[in-house]
Amino acid sequence: MTLSHVKLKNVTKCFKDVKAVDNVNLEIKKGELFTFLGPSGCGKTTILRMIAGFYYPTEGSIYFDDKDVTYLPANRRNAAMVFQSYALFPHLSVEENVAFGLKVRKVPQKEQKEMVKRALEMVKLAGYEKRRIDQLSGGQQQRVALARALVIKPTILLLDEPLSNLDAKLREETRWEIRKLQKELGITTIYVTHDQSEAMAMSDRIAVMEGGKIQQVGTPEEIYFKPANRFVASFIGKTNFIEAVIEDFSHDSALVRVGDEIRFWVDSTCRQDGYIPYRGDRVTISIRPEAMEIVDRPGKNVVKGRVRLTEFTGVTMEYEVEMGGITLHISTPGIGKEKKSPGDEVLIHLPPRNMLIMRGDDNETA
Ligand SMILES: Nc1ncnc2c1ncn2[C@@H]1O[C@H](COP(=O)(O)OP(=O)(O)OP(=O)(O)O)[C@@H](O)[C@H]1O
Ligand SMILES: [Mg+2]
Repeated sequence: MTLSHVKLKNVTKCFKDVKAVDNVNLEIKKGELFTFLGPSGCGKTTILRMIAGFYYPTEGSIYFDDKDVTYLPANRRNAAMVFQSYALFPHLSVEENVAFGLKVRKVPQKEQKEMVKRALEMVKLAGYEKRRIDQLSGGQQQRVALARALVIKPTILLLDEPLSNLDAKLREETRWEIRKLQKELGITTIYVTHDQSEAMAMSDRIAVMEGGKIQQVGTPEEIYFKPANRFVASFIGKTNFIEAVIEDFSHDSALVRVGDEIRFWVDSTCRQDGYIPYRGDRVTISIRPEAMEIVDRPGKNVVKGRVRLTEFTGVTMEYEVEMGGITLHISTPGIGKEKKSPGDEVLIHLPPRNMLIMRGDDNETA
């Protein structure tokens, strides 16, 4: 199986007056699992359909391995799409469903049988050839849909929310299976989801979208620890936004002030790309709930707060803490820490390297 690399250049798609996809530029590498992540209606399916060839862009071009495929019909691109609804034929057998694309491509019967057998082995459904789709569980149907896509030996696999019909536990198991299979086959895979934890767990790289636009492209780590803006920071996991003022800034440290009294240091390198702070700037500090620590002693970057609410989840102890007139959400390990109660005064350590300084005016774009 040769793999393809995919390039989108200035791709825009309009439906009458709706700009579903707005000037997208991207390169997806060979063998990569690349995810489009974003809220409902942000344009994910539209992008996938343009890559598959079911829609043509209003503007811009799409390339597979530097070949312009923008207006090439779907059946002449070697891409296979798994739809959110699976679109299986319920009254046909597993075998007949998987063989569908081979029939369309007029592959000889004998070869078809062999190819279907191998595709079903890949998704661990050997022996289910004669079962009807309506006699399978949701997870099994999902795997039939995957086998039907894999059987044509696509160079690009397109998956549109393939796990959304499964329950939480099966979803987690299946995402591992897909990831494993994708790595084994090394197939270039473009994945769509609105579930941030699914995207984080599965992807080599993620494009975060909003309103038809790409907000950021990066590895799960880059997106989590260095979100490009407020939208990305709040869409990926939980975060606290603290409004602050820059009091001092040097090559290694920034001193920030919250309200009148609270001051702490943030590592100078921990700032939004392209932003250089100046004394007096209004900024937003983003800090993850699990980055903060409740400590026993005062010290550098230790601030005072008061517990308002607690919640024990098993894995974590969640705190809502009031600090200098603002509310912080803090998440600590559920095991081994002395539990604080509402009303308790606590000392909170803010690690200088685990915060991010963002432009104050970025708030308006969120
Ligand atoms: N065929 C169409 N005709 C008109 N508008 C459309 C069409 N398809 C999509 N849209 C609009 O384009 C925008 C993007 O839709 P799209 O289906 O790509 O979103 P999505 O990110 O896949 O959302 P979801 O997570 O809900 O599946 C939406 O505003 C949608 O209403
Ligand atoms: Mg969609």
